[in-house]
Amino acid sequence: MTKQFILDLVADMTLEEKAMQMTQLAPEFFYHKEPARLTGPFRQWNFEEGQLASMGSALGPSGASFLRQFQEDYLAVSRQKIPLLFMSDVIHGYRTIYPIPLAQGCSFDESLVERAAQATAAEAAAAGLHVTFSPMVDLVRDPRWGRVMESTGEDPYLNGVMAAAMVRGYQGEDPSDRGRIAACVKHFAAYGQPEAGREYNTVDMSRGVLRDFYLVPYHEAVKAGAAMVMSSFNVVERIPATCNRLLLRRILRSEWGFGGVVISDYAGVDETMNHSVAATPMEAGKKCVQAGLDIEMMSGVYAATLEKLVKEGQLKEEEIDECVIRILELKDRLGLFENPYKDADEQDEKSLLLCEEHRSLSRQLARESMVLLKNNGVLPLSGSEKIGLAGPFADTGCILGGWHCEGKEKETQTLKQCLEDALGRAVPTAMTTAFQYSDRGKAPDICVGDLEELADSEVCIVAVGEPEWETGEASSRTNLRLTPHQEKLIHSLKQVGKKVVAVVFSGRPMELSPVLEDCDALLQAWFPGTEGGGAVSDILLGKYNPSGRLAMTFPKNVGQIPLYYNHYQTGRPLLSKEEHFTSRYIDCDNDPLFPFGYGLSYTEFSYSGLEVSQDGSQASILVENCGNRAGETVVQFYIRDVSASVVRPVKELRGFRRVSLAPGEKRRVSFTVTEDMLSFYNEEEVWIYEPGEFDIMIGPDSERVERTRIFRK
Ligand code: BGC
Repeated sequence: MTKQFILDLVADMTLEEKAMQMTQLAPEFFYHKEPARLTGPFRQWNFEEGQLASMGSALGPSGASFLRQFQEDYLAVSRQKIPLLFMSDVIHGYRTIYPIPLAQGCSFDESLVERAAQATAAEAAAAGLHVTFSPMVDLVRDPRWGRVMESTGEDPYLNGVMAAAMVRGYQGEDPSDRGRIAACVKHFAAYGQPEAGREYNTVDMSRGVLRDFYLVPYHEAVKAGAAMVMSSFNVVERIPATCNRLLLRRILRSEWGFGGVVISDYAGVDETMNHSVAATPMEAGKKCVQAGLDIEMMSGVYAATLEKLVKEGQLKEEEIDECVIRILELKDRLGLFENPYKDADEQDEKSLLLCEEHRSLSRQLARESMVLLKNNGVLPLSGSEKIGLAGPFADTGCILGGWHCEGKEKETQTLKQCLEDALGRAVPTAMTTAFQYSDRGKAPDICVGDLEELADSEVCIVAVGEPEWETGEASSRTNLRLTPHQEKLIHSLKQVGKKVVAVVFSGRPMELSPVLEDCDALLQAWFPGTEGGGAVSDILLGKYNPSGRLAMTFPKNVGQIPLYYNHYQTGRPLLSKEEHFTSRYIDCDNDPLFPFGYGLSYTEFSYSGLEVSQDGSQASILVENCGNRAGETVVQFYIRDVSASVVRPVKELRGFRRVSLAPGEKRRVSFTVTEDMLSFYNEEEVWIYEPGEFDIMIGPDSERVERTRIFRK
């Protein structure tokens, strides 16, 4: 449609219709059903039937048949017949579920992540959706926060690469194309650092930290063309993101040139009053519009106040029009004025949802995202060992992970089923009672049964972890250990002389130090999705050589948190353990249990011969597979600015490459070192390149790097 078409529609709208266009509600509101599932302050907003006939978008509906009907019912009663936008949280798959985003980050494979997002978009589009509230790119350093599972980890560069890959995967060249949907990057900004890891808590960080780390991935998503941005629940510099002009006007719109739609998080506009930056709905509505917040999700401040604000002269109508125009432009960008049903199609749902192609993609991504943390030689299993299986994740389909959209546990094969299929025999099991959802979502401990069934087993695979409902939103924890009975299970099996292979299903780095010694092998499986059971079995039996690398540091204990590799240099770095007055603990060292970028393989890789070209623009290293199996390693390239006008991180990832090598094969892997990679925001918040000395580092993880110092003009 032409711009004039949109302007004409806006000119024809009443103020009340504009406010409703800027309001997003669950379908229950339109159909006047008791919105029992809904949370937040929705109950106090009494929308009238007439108003609901002009709401702009709906939250969380799905299914081709329902959405076709919904659109039809809506258009039948709406005066201007502007189609509704349907948005939902399609976070790691629609019906075919892929590994949780934190696991996807560990794949270091952006092209596979892009393909998974594309397959996700195809399913969601067939089910009638137009927008997904993904990618979530909040940078995370604190595993106490339950939402670390939704992010791709602690590194701005990796998160940025993954964010862009997901946006490309969802939107393709044009989100109006068949099988594509619009991406909404969230939660802008810095939601990933709630104080003490406690959900919805205050965020407080310097502008430098915000620029160096937290803003980077959102920016990459915007550069990749994300159609929408969701503001976060938290404050940034004491102002809620929902009405934060620094974030929404200065950074997002002016600096980054974002012209798309900004939506609040759930009831975020209303919550500006809880934050005490607005005393009344009038004040809240005014502040949010003035900050450029286009859509209010799940509260009724805009609907109740915008007309009055304009009539009283507190807001200019043009300020509201700006928002409405952006929303209509998005509808246009998705082609909804031509076809309000877009790709909603029951036949396509039948052929696409959970199809073989998507399942196999999910299996591939699950295998690539699992991280082998320890192996004393017990893995891979030949299959001829006497294998036993135990633990609450051994025989359950509850391995999809939080936000699993339309994914179904009963369509998910368990580890036990997959292992037995692969081995062609029954595997003895003990103590496989899964966690039960009860006691307000808290996991009760599993019962300790008896291990007699495993008496003959030489190798015991112990599938442990945390239940899915203890991860994700509103799932902060202070204790990251496995439950006492799971730890005891591992210890008991070790004590009776078994080889213990622990497989950890979790949405966050857990505190694994208490069991590490008793595990002969440790595989971090995360929540691997629909094909997770098969992917674990492939790895344990050596059908796939593990290649995932940690996207988030594993601490030794909760007291070390936040612990991350790319911290700023201190004035008293810990160089020698003898030195007392250094930045360290007296009861624990500074090292993580497993660092960022870490992960083992069934083969060995050697890294040697770091070379940097004379002008410092090319760096390379020789990587060799010196074991006797083919495998993949992730070559990681880090830099450090040795001296700058502001303190710089001790290491910063600037590139990575997944390399596949046959036994005995060598390859020189090169990275281009650009000026941009060595630049940063200075004290005046200006993006600047300062010539001087830089360390160039390449290696298999963030700790084991070869390093050389260069001078760049
Ligand atoms: C979450 C968002 C989500 C929204 C809509 C909120 O509670 O913070 O991530 O997109 O709900 O479901």
